[in-house]
Amino acid sequence: MRTVEWHNGQVRMIDQKAIPWKLEQVDLPTYQAVAASITDMTVRGAPAIGAAAAFGMALAARQSKTTSVEALLADLREASQFLKASRPTAVNLAWAVDKLMELADSGEFKNPDDLRDALLNEAQRIADEDVAINQRMGANGAVLIKDGDTILHHCNTGALATVDYGTALGVVRAAFEQGKKIHVLLDETRPRLQGARLSAWEMEQLGVSYDIIPDTAAGYYMQKGEIKIALVGADRVAANGDFANKIGTYQVAVLAKENGIPFYTVAPTSTVDLSLATGAEIPIEERGKDEVLTPYGNPIVPPHFHARNPAFDVTPNRYLSGIITENGIVRPPFIENLRRAVAGEKV
Ligand code: MRU
Repeated sequence: MRTVEWHNGQVRMIDQKAIPWKLEQVDLPTYQAVAASITDMTVRGAPAIGAAAAFGMALAARQSKTTSVEALLADLREASQFLKASRPTAVNLAWAVDKLMELADSGEFKNPDDLRDALLNEAQRIADEDVAINQRMGANGAVLIKDGDTILHHCNTGALATVDYGTALGVVRAAFEQGKKIHVLLDETRPRLQGARLSAWEMEQLGVSYDIIPDTAAGYYMQKGEIKIALVGADRVAANGDFANKIGTYQVAVLAKENGIPFYTVAPTSTVDLSLATGAEIPIEERGKDEVLTPYGNPIVPPHFHARNPAFDVTPNRYLSGIITENGIVRPPFIENLRRAVAGEKV
């Protein structure tokens, strides 16, 4: 089952708010509903929201009943802004929407129905390509995993965070499929608990050995020498290799360096934003305080207590052993080598 797909003229997605208790899909009839599902994290994970937004654009083209290409383009521009505003940090969202908008603006289409079909085909292509790219990243990264390794992982970067297969957990999956005996320590990832709820559920499905650990226990296991490698995903990688990922990633990176543990991010080149020189320019989403005070509706303190909730942090490139992409493992100097990987060169 894919995380996001086109089904009978609607966008179908797994409701990630219901996992691990229920596996259910929702069908969304409008691009506005797709944007809302990105904001409320029914669908989440950088590549998955990119694919959802691409299908959202295809939906917008069908919602628009205009009979001229010019009027359709105006409606698509409005939809593209609306979809892009649904979450700010993961660049895959803007990347996918811009790709569809570029196609729409190419001047190639004289008939609105041809444009509608082309947009759906392109969204489908982006979704299919995501799965193939994840498998390539998995194979590229699996060479770093040895038989018997324990891997530290943060947040959820598996099939649920992508269209299928996964990025950092895709590397775990590829190593497991190669027959390596591995164990994964899953940071629970407060406040939304993507590690405990989603990554552990995925490891259960695959049969990979794992333990959920409190986020605060990562340093403890590193110090004991149990962790051989740390793998995380990315929501946006700047031109110099600084990258934004789920809040808490920076702490993992610093702890890994202190303990001499290799630390990699696993990200498709669609997550690289060469327009930003450093990570300081990456917009960081702040979410509501309820996610901290009342996770999934369970109050842990009175609701009037104060809280802050940054959803991502930025890890400086000096903590990175490398960036595992579909075109190979990018190593320092990142400015030069990332550009080559984004241009499609094997690195
Ligand atoms: O807020 P989320 O759950 O969308 O954050 C997800 C992450 O930070 C992932 O690590 C990232 O999107 C890469 S997923 C392949």
